[in-house]
Amino acid sequence: MKTMSLISRTAAFAAAALSMAVQAAPVEKPEKATTCAACHGETGVSATGMYPTLAGQYANYLEHSLKDYRAGARKNAIMGAQAANLSDDEIKQLARWFSQQQGPLHTPSVHGELQP
Ligand code: HEC
Repeated sequence: MKTMSLISRTAAFAAAALSMAVQAAPVEKPEKATTCAACHGETGVSATGMYPTLAGQYANYLEHSLKDYRAGARKNAIMGAQAANLSDDEIKQLARWFSQQQGPLHTPSVHGELQP
């Protein structure tokens, strides 16, 4: 009995997680993403450990990072310069697009789609 209820709760959780995971509608590749490719790879999968992989990271994390670079709250000379001229809208689009690319990172959809 205990096992059954655990199984059904697990199944319900899995179904809920799955339905949340499919909510994110794919977005178009933003024009500015081509400038990121030199370091982060065509689809955000970095070829070297020098540059973080962006593909599959949470959109709100990417957005937050870019805004912090732009504001100087997160200090990195390279990314500070990259983010300096990005608008809020461009950051949002870049964050969403990179978050939707397939990569080697494991980022479970525990909170469903995190609206950037
Ligand atoms: C010249 C190389 C270079 C280019 C071009 C570049 N980046 Fe980066 N990026 C880096 C480096 C190096 C870091 C790591 C910086 C640090 O330690 O904070 C980084 C970090 C980041 C991070 C933080 C990732 C994390 O896991 O915390 C984001 C988000 C990001 N870049 C987005 C972009 C976007 C979007 C573009 C294009 C508009 C871009 N980058 C262009 C080199 C680059």
